[in-house]
Amino acid sequence: MSLESELEVLNLKSIMRQKLVEVEGVPLYSKTAENWDSIWNFKAQPDDLIICTYPKSGTTWIQEIVDMIQQGGDPQKCARAPIEKRIPFLEFFPPKPRLFGLELAEAMPSPRLLKTHLPVQLLPPSIWQHNCKIIYLARNIKDCAVSYFHFHLMNTTLPEPGNWDQFLEDFIAGNVNWGSWFDHVHGWWNAKSDHPVLYLFYEDVKEDPAQEICKIAQFLGLELSELVVNQIVQHTVFESMKVNPFVNYTTVPAYLMDHTISSFMRKGIVGDWKKHFTVAQSERLDGICAQEFKGSSLTFRTHL
Ligand code: A3P
Repeated sequence: MSLESELEVLNLKSIMRQKLVEVEGVPLYSKTAENWDSIWNFKAQPDDLIICTYPKSGTTWIQEIVDMIQQGGDPQKCARAPIEKRIPFLEFFPPKPRLFGLELAEAMPSPRLLKTHLPVQLLPPSIWQHNCKIIYLARNIKDCAVSYFHFHLMNTTLPEPGNWDQFLEDFIAGNVNWGSWFDHVHGWWNAKSDHPVLYLFYEDVKEDPAQEICKIAQFLGLELSELVVNQIVQHTVFESMKVNPFVNYTTVPAYLMDHTISSFMRKGIVGDWKKHFTVAQSERLDGICAQEFKGSSLTFRTHL
């Protein structure tokens, strides 16, 4: 191995199994916390479009759908680069000289499409000031927890998850990267009454992708022909994304994402939680959800 590639590996290894550090009470990657001032002072442009999700809610799926909409349904144009290079991940700080996050966003011409997992209260203020459009995708807590557990196993930038029982407790308590799922989905649900936020659900996209694609296009002020909608549906169906190297993260070095432990494109279904939750865990979480959602108009489906 050349000295250069050895240094590259050493550099990348510096982001493995990062500790979480709280920013305003929300656990985030230590590298994110270290760079918090520059994230908070991010300068948005009025035509920035933000994709926001709690991790493992189908971020990559909606990113590819939105890029396909913007590229008029042309898969070749979406194959211009892997997804993390097309759509900067605002608060992710890879070691230099890699550009994925804030610096990539700053180097990119407008109009930009940006990704974040930040909870509503941590969104850089300039995004609100410019009234940027935001697409929020939410996923039911049970499938989200299962997906996040497997992601911790294969993605070595995240802390060691322990076993499923331990991870589920941390997840419910919000002791995971990007904090509490409850706070996240509620915070963004409330934000949509004052801001241009299109709030979507993973389960709805799974059930009727064409309908949700049309909703997004309408939100962006675009009209799509039936042919283009069908092209987008076909290109972004799970089976197609699973084998597409521009979205499936197989181009990331294996010591950062080990797909032999668990694929990034793992199952892509609603209801996989039933294979992981014990009856007691499921009932307990139902009780917690009943409390957390008391008086809220926000509801989720855990099966289709
Ligand atoms: P599973 O682990 O349940 O399979 P994110 O992009 O936010 O990290 O979310 C990843 C989750 O979305 C994974 O869930 C992944 O399989 C699923 N996913 C990705 N693309 C999808 C698609 N086209 N259709 C359905 N699910 C998809």
